[in-house]
Amino acid sequence: MTDKNISSGFDTLCIHGGHTAESNRAHLTPIYASSTYTFDSAEQSIATFKGEEKGYIYGRWGNPTITEAEEKIALLEAFGLKGIDGNPLQLKAILHSSGMAAICTMLLGNIKSGQKIITHYSLYGGTHELVEKILPDLGIEALIVNFHDLNKVEDAIKADTSIALMHIETPANPTLQCLDLEALSALGKKYGLAVCVDNTFATPYLQHPFKYDVDYVMHSTTKFLNGHGTAIGGILLGKDVDKMNSSITKMHRLLGGNSNAFDAFLLTNGLRTFGLRMERHCSNAAEVASYLDKHPGIARVNYLGLASHPDLIIAEKQMKHPGAMLSFELKGGFDAGISFINKLKMCTNAVSLGTCDTLVSHPASTTHLGVTREKRIEFGITDGLIRMSVGIENVADILNDLEQAIPQTPKGA
Ligand SMILES: Cc1ncc(COP(=O)(O)O)c(C=O)c1O
Repeated sequence: MTDKNISSGFDTLCIHGGHTAESNRAHLTPIYASSTYTFDSAEQSIATFKGEEKGYIYGRWGNPTITEAEEKIALLEAFGLKGIDGNPLQLKAILHSSGMAAICTMLLGNIKSGQKIITHYSLYGGTHELVEKILPDLGIEALIVNFHDLNKVEDAIKADTSIALMHIETPANPTLQCLDLEALSALGKKYGLAVCVDNTFATPYLQHPFKYDVDYVMHSTTKFLNGHGTAIGGILLGKDVDKMNSSITKMHRLLGGNSNAFDAFLLTNGLRTFGLRMERHCSNAAEVASYLDKHPGIARVNYLGLASHPDLIIAEKQMKHPGAMLSFELKGGFDAGISFINKLKMCTNAVSLGTCDTLVSHPASTTHLGVTREKRIEFGITDGLIRMSVGIENVADILNDLEQAIPQTPKGA
């Protein structure tokens, strides 16, 4: 919701969506650094607690800075979509302290002890650990299935009536696996499962999972939505607004994974240029992928816009562009990975993704250092694999940095 009569262009919503006039006429919604909110009378507090009067009560439950970010992202995620009543799709968004907090609210708000999740390989590491190491102790188990094999997915759901939720992450690390949202959501709906999509890599600029009737979308807002690497955050969006306002809101408030005004302000500020940034991220990534694909020192490039990517057709069906994430394998293996990282002059050696600057990491020597080589390779994290989040610098500068850092092709390679 916004109080300006604005057109429905995506970039316009990035700037004006969710903004409401502020009582002191501040141009931008200020950082509401207040942990609690006051009432004019006992009657007003009763009305506010009962939900008869709109108003803020306590900072863990939200504040105006948070609301603006929530409503802006809800408008972007619903962009161009209609609900079953034929009107623009209405979504409820809840901002969290992190992407992991948003996932926790979604999972614990939908499944109980004794029920199961069905999900796939290549999940973000934190999500994978959560479902493998934490949830089983709460009586919630995860079935990990190859989501490219739809028959297997259906057989697994049919065979186990305790499966209550399907969690899909697409595209996903490290090979940019892309999963068919339409087909998977249809399967989930056929068997009455709640379906959630982690849309962090694609963002609502590139992909709208609610088009396929999913129940929830979540993001780590830490990434492209914030865009500047200034705040950790997560958002959960749901199309059952009543449920979002009742049981999911309760779960969010009681788990305590709330956002705060400062991080919400940074997120809203980053979102104002979101559409512009994404267009540049994506065009730069396409040029970088094409350059790497022809480079003699590179064995393989994983990028959803290349004909060699096995999921190209799915990506073309559900994404506006192939995105800004890619990975590539240096021919020289582990040593080439170390040398490449050390030689970089402009691209930043860091984990995370989606910032204005190009981020590059070598998983075998960082995030997956503690994983056995055998296991790592099973997950596609080969010795010379480099992950890249292509930034919005001048693309010539990114290419020049790569050119001077990629090791000379080893003899005989
Ligand atoms: C796809 C994906 N989902 C969820 C998360 C978790 O988000 P956060 O780090 O904001 O908790 C990440 C973090 O990298 C991610 O890449």
